[in-house]
Amino acid sequence: MEIINVALGGRSYNVHIENGALANIAALLEPYTAQRRLLFITDANVHDLYWQRIRESLSAAGVNAEVFILPAGEASKSWQNLEAICDWLIREGTERADHIVALGGGVIGDIAGFASAIVKRGCNFVQIPTTLLAQVDSSVGGKTAINSETGKNLVGLFHQPAFVLIDPDMLDTLPERELRAGYAEVVKYGLIGDADFFAWCEGNGGALLAGDKAARIRAISHSINAKAQIVSEDERELSGRRALLNLGHTFGHALEAETGFGDILIHGEAVAAGMALAARYSVRRGYIGHTEAERIAHHLVQSGLPASLGDIAMQTTGTALAAHMQHDKKVVQGDVPLLLMRSIGDTFLSQGTDLADVAAFLGDELANT
Ligand code: NAD
Ligand code: GLY
Repeated sequence: MEIINVALGGRSYNVHIENGALANIAALLEPYTAQRRLLFITDANVHDLYWQRIRESLSAAGVNAEVFILPAGEASKSWQNLEAICDWLIREGTERADHIVALGGGVIGDIAGFASAIVKRGCNFVQIPTTLLAQVDSSVGGKTAINSETGKNLVGLFHQPAFVLIDPDMLDTLPERELRAGYAEVVKYGLIGDADFFAWCEGNGGALLAGDKAARIRAISHSINAKAQIVSEDERELSGRRALLNLGHTFGHALEAETGFGDILIHGEAVAAGMALAARYSVRRGYIGHTEAERIAHHLVQSGLPASLGDIAMQTTGTALAAHMQHDKKVVQGDVPLLLMRSIGDTFLSQGTDLADVAAFLGDELANT
């Protein structure tokens, strides 16, 4: 068992990581049940797998648990569902002292966190992340959002949870493709600031993906420690430190937009392809050597992740992909800053992006597939 504190002054909170923690859910959530009830938001898959057990444990402890269920998938991060959740919470008579619980992957965490932040001008919430992606990244740090017609995560706000409960055993039921997608975010922590951790991933990623519990715990604990440190230094992504966590995301979001935010390319896969593209674009700009960039791509491919545009089923052009980047949240006065690499473990925010050059680069990448 490990407890990691996210140090944010009066908004600090703990992340509790423990295999089998779900069996102890009533005791672990006890500090958040002053009103003897909890309001859960989850998706249909997670509901079917875990809800009965959770409700019964809480009920046995005298806590009434209500649930709102969304369809699974990225399309659920919508205005319509945000409205439906808010209306449900209000109909349930949610008070500010209640705790809303996001039970699911990043989709549920993002929309439930957003609803918590705006209902009654802000309620408390707890994250119980159930995907690898959410257990190593999205459940910590307080970014909440929905998608809009114009792009991904463009509407949202920062709202920190009061507690994060991670039970890595819940990953036993996660489909293999989702596990691999979440693994891309684990690799990210090595690439942004820790070459030794990237080497650990090369040596242990296969075991992790095969279900090795020690490797899983090590990856989650390392990732959350790194994320907690970054978030406590730059909670609102103002200094550039937190922006490092977006490695691969500007390219990745363009790929997600171009493939329709659906099953062709799920979020973690887009991040993987985006990180490989960021590495290759760093080669083009003369920051990192070809061999090092291909070492990154090789590990992603070995992990069953896309690492080039040829790995993704889509008909597009470099110009069309680059156009999506203009909606990036990091844009300042029209400039789209990019996360590029000087080496494995040394990622930096590069300003003054020449989008025409990025479009040409992506065109070359498409031609080389
Ligand atoms: P997801 O929430 O859609 O979950 C993936 C799939 O796994 C879904 O079908 C879900 O029903 C299923 N699932 C979840 N847990 C399961 C379990 N234990 N067993 C079986 N099935 C399970 O996707 P995700 O990859 O977790 O999250 C992606 C989202 O996270 C994106 O919208 C992305 O923008 C967001 N995100 C947010 C942040 C942040 O800081 N807020 C960071 C990274 C990503
Ligand atoms: N996942 C990016 C961030 O939390 O900042």
